[in-house]
Amino acid sequence: MAKTPFLTDIKTLRARARQHIEEGAVTPTYGGNAEAAIKILNDALATEIVCVLRYKMHYFVAKGINSGPVADEFLEHANEEQAHADRIAQRIVQLGGDPNLSPDGLLSRSHTEYVATTDLAQMIKENLVAERIAIDSYRDMINYLGNDDPTTRRMMEGILAMEEEHADDLVSLLQELGK
Ligand SMILES: [Fe+2]
Ligand SMILES: [Fe+2]
Repeated sequence: MAKTPFLTDIKTLRARARQHIEEGAVTPTYGGNAEAAIKILNDALATEIVCVLRYKMHYFVAKGINSGPVADEFLEHANEEQAHADRIAQRIVQLGGDPNLSPDGLLSRSHTEYVATTDLAQMIKENLVAERIAIDSYRDMINYLGNDDPTTRRMMEGILAMEEEHADDLVSLLQELGK
C-alpha cells in the first residue's frame, strides 16, 4: 500500500477544518478516542486533587511541629500538584469534556490515597508512596496515548517528570531524617 503523503493538500485541510467547528481542538485527524482520554484525564485530575489535599494536611501538621524545611517542601509540592490539576482540567475542556471536580467519589477516582498521619517520617513515606503510584499510572497513560494525542501525551510527560522530582525530594528528606 502506498504511504499516505505527509501533508494533506491544502484544499482538503481547509474543508476538513470547517466541519464540526464546535469540536474546537478535536479535529478529524485526532488519532485517539477523546472520550477515553477524557476519562483517564479525569482519573489523573482526581489523583492530583487528593495529592493537593494530603500535602496540604501534612504541611499544616509539619508546620505545627516545627519541621520547617519538610513543611516547606510539602507546601511546594501541594502547589505544584494544584498546577498539574489545573493543566489537566484545561486539557479535558479542550477535548470537549467536563473536568470532574465533584468531591463525591473523589477518592475512588484517585489512584493515590489520602492518609492523614501526624508522624513526620510517616508523612514523608505516605507522600513518597503516592508519588510512586502517580509515576506508574502516568507512565501507563503516556504509553496508552502514544502518538494518537501528542498534546495530552506531552503534558503528561511533563507532569510525570515533576512527580519523579517529587519522589526524589522525598527520598532526600527521609535520608536527612535518618529514616
Ligand atoms: Fe502532580
Ligand atoms: Fe507529585
